[in-house]
Amino acid sequence: MANQLKGVVLAGGTGSRLFPLTKVTNKHLLPVGRYPMIFHPLLRLKEASVTRIALVTSPEHMGDVVNLLGSGRDLGVDLTYRVQDKPGGIAQALGLCENFAGDDPLVTVLGDNILEDSLLEHADLYREQGRGARVLLKRVRDPESYGVPRFEGDTIVEIVEKPKYPPSSFAVTGIYFYDREVFDFIRQLSPSRRGEYEVSDVNTSYVRHSRLTYGVLNGWWGDAGTLEGWHEANRLARYLVYDGYPHQSD
Ligand code: DAU
Repeated sequence: MANQLKGVVLAGGTGSRLFPLTKVTNKHLLPVGRYPMIFHPLLRLKEASVTRIALVTSPEHMGDVVNLLGSGRDLGVDLTYRVQDKPGGIAQALGLCENFAGDDPLVTVLGDNILEDSLLEHADLYREQGRGARVLLKRVRDPESYGVPRFEGDTIVEIVEKPKYPPSSFAVTGIYFYDREVFDFIRQLSPSRRGEYEVSDVNTSYVRHSRLTYGVLNGWWGDAGTLEGWHEANRLARYLVYDGYPHQSD
């Protein structure tokens, strides 16, 4: 892959499932382990040599997010900011990054996803893949809470968002590798029944064009977007530190 892999971190939305913790604070600024939640996706991207990153958040919280992160220099990344005026879904938020991406491929990480594995190996596999999309899966006990892949043999044939009857026991985690065709697919989407532009529909567009590959995370993974998920992420990430990022020692 000749082009540079750039990053997108999505930190918009309402955080309503964590209310009242999120009444005056953006969900992604709440603590997870030793860091504000948003540090985790940013530092995982940096570890994978992805340092040019667009961060999307809401108008209400952009000020706080910029106060925390600034240019990104302290974290060793180069940040560009995009405002999502209304929380219209993950795919809509990603669509705001088209000019930022230019001709380059992207790795998009949801701002509430916390993981044990490094993303370096996965980023390198996608750099080799060179086109299409790649998603990362994790086996979970409650697939109905996530986007869930349906398999035929080893091939994903569909991804269903929060299905009542999950077709497998895997979650599609909030880590997605895309080429620039993603923006054409986003433009073709219609809002779902809950009125959002769904990332699972973007991924299913790649499935239809036979351009979706996947990897499976080995280590723990968490979505800190619910109260239970946030507590679990804090438990898992309690001692997590990132190489090269200064932290207060005990
Ligand atoms: O964590 C993995 C799951 O994340 C996937 O399995 C699902 O397919 C995917 O839809 C997503 O589900 P959630 O219900 O967890 O999505 P949530 O609404 O919590 O949004 C996740 C992140 O995306 C959130 O941290 C902020 C960002 N976001 C979300 C929305 C709706 C935005 O930036 N803008 C938005 O409009």
